[in-house]
Amino acid sequence: MAKFLPVLPIADLPAGRGRCVTAGRRDVALFQVEGQLYAIDNSCPHRGGPLAEGDLSGCVIYCPLHAWSFDLRTGVSPSNSRAKVATYPVRVVAGTIEVELPDEAAAPLEEADPWSA
Ligand code: FES
Repeated sequence: MAKFLPVLPIADLPAGRGRCVTAGRRDVALFQVEGQLYAIDNSCPHRGGPLAEGDLSGCVIYCPLHAWSFDLRTGVSPSNSRAKVATYPVRVVAGTIEVELPDEAAAPLEEADPWSA
């Protein structure tokens, strides 16, 4: 079962720019475009470029390292449909952005330790 995790006050996410946050075990890139929030994996599938630091054009983010592009709505590259990043549901509760992650990604690291308990 998936779980929403609070990650950032909405006031700290300016429109038209990315922001990387840690949610559970994932680094997630947040964007606000025309009043809509988007959350995708921060790591580019090419060579791990930080997508939150890329350039936005509408709902398309360009990786800052080699300019691969990804649509924030789908995670799919407009120029190569085989290139994709994960997208996550996002919402705002009481002024805080929350990102929904699957359980295995949302759990704190200590819960994943197979040698504990
Ligand atoms: S690391 Fe993103 S395009 Fe190369």
